[in-house]
Amino acid sequence: MLSTEMTSGLNNQIGLEGFASNYYLSVASWCDLHGFEGGAAFFFAQSDEERQHMLKVLHYVNEAGGEAIVPKLDAPQHEFSSLKQIFEDALAHEVRVTKAIHALTDLCLSEKDFTTFSFLQWFINEQHEEENLFRTILDKIHLAGDDERGLFFVDKELKSLAGTGITLESGTAE
Ligand code: FEO
Repeated sequence: MLSTEMTSGLNNQIGLEGFASNYYLSVASWCDLHGFEGGAAFFFAQSDEERQHMLKVLHYVNEAGGEAIVPKLDAPQHEFSSLKQIFEDALAHEVRVTKAIHALTDLCLSEKDFTTFSFLQWFINEQHEEENLFRTILDKIHLAGDDERGLFFVDKELKSLAGTGITLESGTAE
């Protein structure tokens, strides 16, 4: 049975995952409009993944005796200056999500809620992989600099990564 504090923390997580899904949808649409075909495919897939994360938490809360609350979400921004800014902001968001997951895990330990602790392990690993993926893509964008050819190849690579769950570094699928 979830404590009131744990239920509230998990509901907050539902909001973070839901916002990420909308945010990446907005990014995907911007990429679509600005010739980044690979970026669009990558972020449409990321948006779907984040919605799945949101649903995962929602189902868990209800199954564990709490009440999942679907929150009102702030509208995501829709203007972006570059692919570099997009990945910098996306990485910053993922770092915030990681901190929230870690804070929830810490709460599990203080409450001795080992069921939720076990549930959150998947998210800890997922966040590690997502942060690593976004950092690696950012490294490539930095290498490309303002070179349009370089950005073209980064965009091509994003297309090949879209929805595969493959990380650039390990080359392994989930
Ligand atoms: Fe599900 Fe990447 O936050």
